Amino acid sequence: MIKEDILIKAQTVFDSKNDFYLFFAPCRANLIGEHIDYNGGRVLPFAISTGIYLAVAPNALGQHRFFSENFLEQGVINIPKCEYQHSLTHSWLNYPVGVLKEFADINVLLNDSCDFYYYGNADFGAGLSSSAAIEMVTAVAINYITDSNLPMINLVKMSKSCENNFVGMNCGIMDQFIVGFGKAGNAVLLNCDNLKYSYVPFVLKDISIILINTNKVRKLTDSKYNERSMECLSVLHTINSIRKDKISCLCDINVDEIACYKHVLDDVLYRRLQHVVTENDRVNKTVKALENNDIETVGKLLYASHDSLKNDYEVSCKELDVIVDVAYNQEGVLGARMTGAGFGGCVISLVKNEFVEAFKEKVEHDYVAKTKLIPSFYDVACSDGAKKL
Ligand code: GLA
Repeated sequence: MIKEDILIKAQTVFDSKNDFYLFFAPCRANLIGEHIDYNGGRVLPFAISTGIYLAVAPNALGQHRFFSENFLEQGVINIPKCEYQHSLTHSWLNYPVGVLKEFADINVLLNDSCDFYYYGNADFGAGLSSSAAIEMVTAVAINYITDSNLPMINLVKMSKSCENNFVGMNCGIMDQFIVGFGKAGNAVLLNCDNLKYSYVPFVLKDISIILINTNKVRKLTDSKYNERSMECLSVLHTINSIRKDKISCLCDINVDEIACYKHVLDDVLYRRLQHVVTENDRVNKTVKALENNDIETVGKLLYASHDSLKNDYEVSCKELDVIVDVAYNQEGVLGARMTGAGFGGCVISLVKNEFVEAFKEKVEHDYVAKTKLIPSFYDVACSDGAKKL
């Protein structure tokens, strides 16, 4: 849908004659630095061009009305203005309502009740963080409508807080941050410990960035995501119990120090630590390789990241592994790995342009044969962050 269509659709759905404002927030992919944002690590995500549109207009009904084109069957959902409760029946609604609650908690209140119309042109559940996009598009819209002028970093933190406290997912800050701070042609190198960031140009000559969606159904809050974040806390606690100088996060540890902790951690927790510390190191190496335009090395680091996520962190799954294995053996593919939380979702791959079609055919063929699922492919490029249109 183009901009005008979205505005007309919004007026039709709510039978409204009011003028709607339009906002957009992108989804994201992560080049490297997985499961280390909540360990104070460095990550290298980028915004992509697909994402979530939100059209908003005041209504004079005393009730907010929500509608998502992507959850058509749920129709228009009414909620009383200022009653922000967790919904068990409309789980998508918890993202925008949780953000409204974040604003209410700092006394930023909407003067009028409003109509909220959402339309996403990205696949939900693809592991590209449509959830962060819904949160951020809502936050940018409320910030605008209420004339609050909160800086982007506040909107990022409020969206993360909504996800942690209202939705119930203990995510780190990477997704909301990149949705807010994405920039065309660039990935963002974010230090999740102090939130310092820099843009890293990421436009590759003769090489495509292909995302492959496993199309495996999953639900993150049900998955082992929260379990992993608890395991990391427990590792941090154990390490601090034997250190004189305490550390604030696992990524404060260097690669050559990992072995010092073998005797105090069981095998599983030791492997979790190994992933976190080596992944942080791979991010630094990837940034250097990109600066030197050494994409071969970037590709190798992607494969190494996948192995670590699969074997040490155990957040991959058969579907992701099948695709990465095909990539590994396919001519013209420089590297591939799962991107995002894992347990399903997408693989990110770097493929020489002339080999893209052959790669897609091979993945489709082998993936269907081994999993009975049909993959989807997205050719992506680094795009801008959330904004008013
Ligand atoms: C999800 C979370 C992020 C991050 C990734 C894994 O997308 O929302 O905070 O932890 O998983 O890197």
